[in-house]
Order: sequence, then structure tokens, then C-alpha cells
Amino acid sequence: MTITKDDSAPLIAVVGATGLQGGSVVNALAESKLAYRIRAFTRNATKPAAEVLKAKGVEVVQVDLTVENKDQVFKAFVGTNYAFLVTNFWEHLNMEREVAEGKLLIDAAKAVGARGIVWSGLPSVSKASNGKYTHVVHFDGKAIVTEYGRQSGVPFVNVPAGLYAQNFFGPFGLILKRPDGTFEIAWNMRPGSKIPLIDIVKDYGLFVRKAIESELFPDGQDINTVSEDIAPTLIAEQLSEVTGKTVVYTHLTTEEWVKRLIGAGQPEAIAIELVQSFTFFDEIGYYAGQPSASTEGLGTPTQTWKQFARSADWSKVLI
Ligand SMILES: NC(=O)c1ccc[n+]([C@@H]2O[C@H](COP(=O)([O-])OP(=O)(O)OC[C@H]3O[C@@H](n4cnc5c(N)ncnc54)[C@H](OP(=O)(O)O)[C@@H]3O)[C@@H](O)[C@H]2O)c1
Repeated sequence: MTITKDDSAPLIAVVGATGLQGGSVVNALAESKLAYRIRAFTRNATKPAAEVLKAKGVEVVQVDLTVENKDQVFKAFVGTNYAFLVTNFWEHLNMEREVAEGKLLIDAAKAVGARGIVWSGLPSVSKASNGKYTHVVHFDGKAIVTEYGRQSGVPFVNVPAGLYAQNFFGPFGLILKRPDGTFEIAWNMRPGSKIPLIDIVKDYGLFVRKAIESELFPDGQDINTVSEDIAPTLIAEQLSEVTGKTVVYTHLTTEEWVKRLIGAGQPEAIAIELVQSFTFFDEIGYYAGQPSASTEGLGTPTQTWKQFARSADWSKVLI
């Protein structure tokens, strides 16, 4: 454990430290050989995740990181050497708000003289598809923030998150039970198309740590995080193998998948956004045709899908 209160150690401000990405960043820094001071922001400094951070020696600052609260936000960043910034689209589903809050965080880090910003962006689907896919606003908004950050004058690295392996436990119903009692992963991606899957808890922070610890801060770069680039057929096959349950991949048409999601209770806009994002992953690639980053030299081995699947508790999903 190398989290310290010693002023000689760099101060890393971590947004979202009570959540998945920021939590992973805190853990990776805590396991570094180098010492850091870490400041975590949360809207509720007494919640259990905040208490866990305090117990690790993290300074927990209660602040609502919204534009209405600009002065408090700027104050909260004072003293920051490096900032890890992430926004949470899924909490409000509003691209304009995500963009405004992303820019606010960059402005705050700049105002306090941060030496570097690590931002969790995503590529612009509407730009990379030449306007063909315009509903993937949780990608497009983050790409606008990335452009803003690159022009901020502060050394700026974009560290987009791959598709979370943890999504299989999430609200989108990525694994379904079939009437015969077996399970299926049913998307509109061609069976052999690969996606950059990431164990967001164990692996994401390793890429952020590497960026912060690089001899030369990787200003201007995109570090496209991944645990394993993998095709959906293999996801299903390996999940079957490690759990002993039958899980197959079914290739749906776009229309079939939208219909199924709406039938399962997803709002139409969310169903279209989700399905269009997978259409983009299939046709152009999750990282808009750029390769995933190397998983070598991160200081800690990353997880394969099979390792993730083996260690996860599927008892509430594969039932
Ligand atoms: N699911 C995927 O496959 C995937 C892939 C790539 C990117 N993403 C992106 O990941 C983002 C979410 O990141 P995550 O998964 O790490 O989120 P998460 O686990 O849900 O945590 C959200 C974090 O954001 C903090 N937060 C949100 N609004 C805040 C505010 N107004 N002030 C202060 N803190 C605030 C929360 O802190 P408190 O609640 O403690 O205040 C919490 O720590 C989304 O924008 C999504 O688009 C997801």
C-alpha cells in the first residue's frame, strides 16, 4: 500500500473513485511501487464505498461535480498534480450535460495547474461512421470532451474504457434464458467480430497508472484499454466451459434485437442507442478502427475473459 499523506508525493485527484473506473484507478495506484496522495470526490462522503477509500488512506472530498456548483468544483481540485476524470452518462442520459460536466472538470484541473489530465473518453460514432450512426450519444459526448481537453493546453491523455466484462451482470440483459433452460448471448454483431472486453475493476486502472508513471506523460495519445479482444462466439463458448451451463451466441438482425430489448422493457431510445453502438462495433470497430492498447508492461497481468468468467459469481445471472 503506497497511499500516503506526505506532501512530497504527487496528488492524484480521482473522479468516480466510489465507482468502477475511478475505483480501479485508486486500487492500481495503491498497488504501485511509487507513493501517491490520492483525493477522491463523491457526493456522499459517508457512503460505504467512501468509507472503504478513507480506510485505505485516501482523502475523501464531498462535492457535487456539476456546472451549477462550479466554485466548489474548482476549490475541490486545488493542489492536484494529476487528475483522473470520468463522467457518468447513464445516471442522466443527457449528452449536453455529460459534455458540460466533462469540460468543467478539465477547466478545474487546468485552473489549479495540474501537470496532466487522464480522461476516460470514447470515440465519436457519428464522425467515424460519417453521419451514418447518430444515436450513440454516450460515445459522441465523450469525444467532444476529448477534443476540448486536447485544446486545453494541459498535457492530456485519453484512456477510453473497453466494453466492461461486468456488463453481463448489468441492466441491459446481455445474457438471456431460453425456453429450453439454456442461455444465449444474442446481439447483432457477426459471430467472428471482436470487441475489446475489459475487466473494468481489475484492469482499467493499470492503463491509467502506466500513463501517469510514463517517463514522458503521453500527451495527445489514446490508450484504448482492453483485457482481451474477443468474438461473441468465444465469449459464449468459454462461459459454457467454465460454468458448465449451455450458453450460445445468436446473431440477431438489428430490428430483432431492438424489438427484443423494447419487449424486455428498455425505453426505445436506449434500445436504439445500444443496438446502434453494437452495429458500429461490428462495422467500424469499438475504437473506430484504432487498435486496442498492448496489455504488456502494465506491471500486473491483465485478465482473460476466461479468467474473469471463472472467478465471477454467475449464480444470479445463469439461473
Ligand atoms: N459499461 C461499459 O461497458 C462502458 C464502457 C466504456 C465507458 N463507459 C462509461 O463509463 C461511465 C461510468 O463510469 P463507471 O462505470 O466508473 O461509473 P459508476 O461505477 O456508476 O460510478 C459513477 C461514479 O461517478 C461519480 N459521480 C457521478 N456523478 C457525480 C457528480 N455529480 N459529482 C461527483 N461524483 C459523481 C459517482 O460518485 P458518487 O455516486 O459517490 O457521488 C461514482 O463514483 C459512463 O459514462 C459510461 O458511458 C461504460
